[in-house]
Amino acid sequence: MKTRILAALKENNTYISGQELCEILSVSRTAVWKIIKQLKTEGYEIEAMPNKGYKLQSSPDLLTESEISSDIQTSVMGKAIRYYEEVKSTNITARALADQGAAHGTLVVAERQTEGKGRRGRTWDSPEQTGIWMSLILKPDFPPNNASMLTLVMGLSVAKAIEDLSGAQVKIKWPNDIVINGKKICGILTEMSAEMEYINHIVIGVGINANTEVFPKEIADIASSIRKETGVAIKRSYLISKIMKYFEGFYLLFLHTCDVSELKNLYNEYLINCGREVKIIDPKNPYVGKALGINDKGELLVQKANGEIENVYAGEVSVRGLYNYV
Ligand code: BTN
Repeated sequence: MKTRILAALKENNTYISGQELCEILSVSRTAVWKIIKQLKTEGYEIEAMPNKGYKLQSSPDLLTESEISSDIQTSVMGKAIRYYEEVKSTNITARALADQGAAHGTLVVAERQTEGKGRRGRTWDSPEQTGIWMSLILKPDFPPNNASMLTLVMGLSVAKAIEDLSGAQVKIKWPNDIVINGKKICGILTEMSAEMEYINHIVIGVGINANTEVFPKEIADIASSIRKETGVAIKRSYLISKIMKYFEGFYLLFLHTCDVSELKNLYNEYLINCGREVKIIDPKNPYVGKALGINDKGELLVQKANGEIENVYAGEVSVRGLYNYV
């Protein structure tokens, strides 16, 4: 009910009468009044004018279920929100929820993580209030081999959403980092529970430094936040809803072919590595080459000095610029 009142208030830039709210929600005036009061204590500024009704003046930067759900405009992705103030890792919580039957498209969001996970066993710094730490649960029908491409689908969704909100030039460092001004502002960690030929579930974990000002010194050289790079303060729930909207659309395109052939051209436009010399850090066979873009399977095509083209698969290696992170 709180979500529906918030959604109605957000939809109307003007006053909405108590009577209208009662009718939309089929509840009494007292029930509406109680919820408005509760919203005010949570930090929502709601003006109440006699004979006119209620008007939402501003919303706090919360990640609660009702705040996110009242922004969400999708039919599946992020339709169910599970919010926690603190978890070890939203990927771990999402995995447990998926095992217990959480629906395809459920989004797990936390205000802070105490054991946030990065790729390759690294930790992911996840303080409260300034970041977005979330994991999307998917229960698809396609074979396990195609799953890693969803990291790219999510990367593209995040890049588009941040670009819309900040107006900045947002880039993707293949396969899973989102970059502004050469600094990493988001990482994605996709994990899967599967049998040989059957996916139980996929969890796509997304960590976004939205409004973070200060970073631990070990990562200060490469990490930054959207706010630091663009000066735009991000309303986190709104960014989440935009990401879900893009992801829902791109996921449908992905499902047509179960690969990224319909997204490849757009992805390549965002690819920071495109046309640049990169170092492929493969423990067995490191080499340098020119990144040409991704193919239908989401592999990075890298041309070596002898002209040979390698298809680099995301799981195996990491890619760096010749002299620095990008
Ligand atoms: C990377 O190393 O770049 C990937 C970082 C992924 C971090 C996110 S934060 C939400 C989700 N939960 C986790 O524990 N990790 C991912």
